[in-house]
Amino acid sequence: MPHRDLAKLCDQYGPLVYFRLGSVDAITTNDPDIICDILRQQDNVFDSRPHTLAAEHLAYGAGDVALAPMGPKWKRLRRICMEHLLTTKRLESFATHRAHEAQHLVRNVWEVSQRGDVVNLRQVLGGFSMNNVTRMLFGKQYLGADSAAQEEATEFLHITHEMFRLLGMIYVGDYLPFWRWIDPNGFEKRMREVEKRIDDFHTKIIEEHRKRSRDECGVEMDFVDVLLGLPGEDGKPHMDDIEIKALIQDMIAAATDTSAVTNEWAMAEVIKHPRVLKKVQQELDNIVGPDRMVMESDLANLNYLRCIVRETFRMHPAGPFLIPHESTRPTEINGYHIPEKTRVFINTHGLGRNSKIWDNVDEFRPERHLLADESRVEISHGADFKILPFSAGKRKCPGAPLGVTLVLMALARLFHCFDWCQPEEHIEIDTNEVYRIAGSNWDPAGDPTFDMSGLTDVTKHSDVLSSSRRVRTL
Ligand code: HEM
Repeated sequence: MPHRDLAKLCDQYGPLVYFRLGSVDAITTNDPDIICDILRQQDNVFDSRPHTLAAEHLAYGAGDVALAPMGPKWKRLRRICMEHLLTTKRLESFATHRAHEAQHLVRNVWEVSQRGDVVNLRQVLGGFSMNNVTRMLFGKQYLGADSAAQEEATEFLHITHEMFRLLGMIYVGDYLPFWRWIDPNGFEKRMREVEKRIDDFHTKIIEEHRKRSRDECGVEMDFVDVLLGLPGEDGKPHMDDIEIKALIQDMIAAATDTSAVTNEWAMAEVIKHPRVLKKVQQELDNIVGPDRMVMESDLANLNYLRCIVRETFRMHPAGPFLIPHESTRPTEINGYHIPEKTRVFINTHGLGRNSKIWDNVDEFRPERHLLADESRVEISHGADFKILPFSAGKRKCPGAPLGVTLVLMALARLFHCFDWCQPEEHIEIDTNEVYRIAGSNWDPAGDPTFDMSGLTDVTKHSDVLSSSRRVRTL
C-alpha cells in the first residue's frame, strides 16, 4: 500500500523523503512541521497541480478547480465556487433538502430493520451522500422513492463509479511516456470512453436546465442554474459549457465519495467499540432527547460525536494522500533543495498514524480529541497540523463546511435512532485496509495502476453489514 510504504520510508530516512517516479521528481512527508511549511509558509510555491492523464480526460483537460494548475483559470473557477456555489447563504437554501435526505436515511434503515434484515451501510450511506449532492447540483434525487428516471439514475451511478476509480489511480503512463504510447491494457482508451459518457450526461443536464429556465419561472435554483446565469470570461455573456461541466464534475467527484467513505469508517469503528456507541448515544439523549430528531442546529453542541469524526479522520482520512501538489519554482525545505515541478505526496494517512505525534496510533479513542476546557472540538486541522482532513492553504477544500455537516448529520441520526451491532457474533468487522490493484476487476491481465480512489479512499474495508433496531419514534 503506497501510503504505508511511503510512511515507512519517512520512518527510515527522516520526515522528508525525495524519490523519482520515472522522470518526475517527487517528495513525500507525514510530518506536521514539514506539512505546515509546504501548505502555509510556502503555499505560493506548492499551490499547483501536476498534469496527469486523468486530469486530461476526466476533468476537461484540467479545466476544473481540483486538478487545474495554478493560474488565472483556477483562480476564476475557485472564486465562482466560493462566491456563488458554496456560500453560507446558498448552502442554507438547501437545508430543507438535507433534512429530507436525513429523514430518508433513517426511514431506509428503519424499513430494513423492521424486516429483520441486516443493513448494508455502504449502500445507504452512499445513497445519502449522492442524493444530497445531486439535489444541490441538478435539483434531482437519484436514489430512493422520489428518484429521477431509473435508467438515467443507473447510468449516472455507473459512470460516476467508473470516474471515481479512474481518477484515483496512479497510472504508470503518467511517469513513463513510452507506456502511454503503447497503452498495453487500453487504460487510456477506457478513460476516453468514460470521458465521452460523462460528457453526454452533462450535456443532457445542461440542455434540460436551459429548457426548464425558459419553460418555468420560479423554479428553485440549483448549482447548474446558478452557473448558467453567470457571465463568462472576457466580457462573454455566459460561461462556456465546458467550464460548467468541469465544475459539475468536480463537485460530484469531490463531494460524494469523501463524505460517504468517512461515514462508513466511522460507523464501522463505532460498531466495533460498543463503549463509544453508548457514550455518543448518552450525549444525544442529553442534548437532543427522545422526542425529536437531531437537527443541523444541534451539530455544534455534539462534542463527543465531533471527537468521533475527528478520530475517524485521523485513522481513516478520506484519501490517504492529499491531491498531489506541484512546486512552481525551485525552493528549499529543511535545507534540502527541491526542484521546480516536484510532485508532492502529503501522506495524511501517515500523519494520523505518526507515532511521534500520536500515542497508540491504531487505537480508536475519540476522547483523545476532547479539550481540557471542554470547548467545542473543531473537525478540520488546528494550528498544529496534526490532522488535515480538508488540507490547508490555497488548495484547501472549499466544501469543508458542507462535508462536515453531511458527515455529522448522517452519524447523529443513525446513532440517535438506532442501536447497532455486528450481524452475527462470529463475524468480525474488518477495519483493515484493502489495497486493490485496479484493473484486476477490469481485465484479467491487470493494469499497472494502483487504485488510490483519488480524493476518496484507498482504505476500503470489507462491506459493513450491521443489524439495527429502532429506539426512537420516526
Ligand atoms: C467529508 C467530506 C470531504 C472531505 C474529507 C474533503 C477533503 C478534501 C481534500 C483533502 C482536498 C484536497 C486538498 C489539497 O489537495 O490540498 C479537497 C479538495 C477539494 N474539495 Fe473537498 N472534501 C470533502 C467534501 C467536499 C465537498 C462537499 C465539496 C463541494 C461540494 C468539495 C470540493 C472540493 C474541491 C472543489 C476541491 C479542490 C480544491 C482546489 O484544488 O482548489 N469537497 N477536499
